[in-house]
Amino acid sequence: MNVLTDYIFPKLNFVKSGKVRDIYDLGEHFLIVSTDRLSAFDVIMQDGIPNKGKILNKISKFWFEFSKDIIENHVVETNFNNFPEECLAYPELNDRSMIVKKAKLIPIECIVRGYISGSGWIDYQKTGKICDIELPKNLLESEKLPEPIFTPSTKEDVGEHDRNISENEAKNLIGNDVFNFIKEKALEIYIKSYNYALSKGIIIADTKMEFGFYDNKIILIDEFLTPDSSRFWPLTEYEKGKTQNSFDKQYVRDYLISIGFNKKPPAPKLPEDVIFNTSKKYEEALFILTGEKI
Ligand SMILES: Nc1ncnc2c1ncn2[C@@H]1O[C@H](COP(=O)(O)OP(=O)(O)OP(=O)(O)O)[C@@H](O)[C@H]1O
Ligand SMILES: [Mg+2]
Repeated sequence: MNVLTDYIFPKLNFVKSGKVRDIYDLGEHFLIVSTDRLSAFDVIMQDGIPNKGKILNKISKFWFEFSKDIIENHVVETNFNNFPEECLAYPELNDRSMIVKKAKLIPIECIVRGYISGSGWIDYQKTGKICDIELPKNLLESEKLPEPIFTPSTKEDVGEHDRNISENEAKNLIGNDVFNFIKEKALEIYIKSYNYALSKGIIIADTKMEFGFYDNKIILIDEFLTPDSSRFWPLTEYEKGKTQNSFDKQYVRDYLISIGFNKKPPAPKLPEDVIFNTSKKYEEALFILTGEKI
């Protein structure tokens, strides 16, 4: 099977690579390409996961459509046949890329948490709070919060960890009005999506959104409610008081732990069955959430 981790599209104007996605400048718009790269414990694996990029692209597309009555988003075109001339030379782009509006970034990561996990759990154990939000006492790891909370973080450069910040600090960065608007939208989107995914057997424990300015409006950008930007937990395995299994990355994490991986590059090669099973999990997530098959 064709696995695409590193692309070269000489006719396209490359802008930057993230851990998983590559961005190209098409003039009026950006092209966002989702590759098959996978990062675990913040390290990019050597091996790609077959179909992962296509699946992430389809999942983002689904949620953008799902939430468009709440807020406008950056999607311009997802159908490869309608892409501009210079893209058509690269059929690999089909299904794994979208053309988007060029927005001016609002420089915070908009995280919504419905459950306490990850950096939120670490902060809570030290202070009883996340982002200066006082939480009930005696919460257990992975416990559901009384209501979803908006916990912004900074957007740090590659290699640095984003830092959770308080509401006041976020307001100083982006202004009160912008803060209040995106907080309200982010919570509304989370609640609607959470309820939908839960009805399908997936807990969206938390998720990260990004917003930007376009045409004097605030729109939703970036990837959206994918397993890479969210914690997806299988509902049937959920049990508070411990770290949860990840819907998509559990095979990879289990393998890396089993070989004592030190969580630093270079990543080891993954066994065939780990790659295969992981690819199947992504397919399952796509099917459960959208009803689509790859
Ligand atoms: N419509 C848009 N307009 C402008 N910038 C965008 C748009 N959509 C996404 N971006 C930006 O493009 C970048 C996407 O890159 P990507 O997520 O692949 O890498 P990253 O955020 O640098 O790293 P990571 O792999 O940790 O996510 C982000 O900086 C995001 O804010
Ligand atoms: Mg990113």
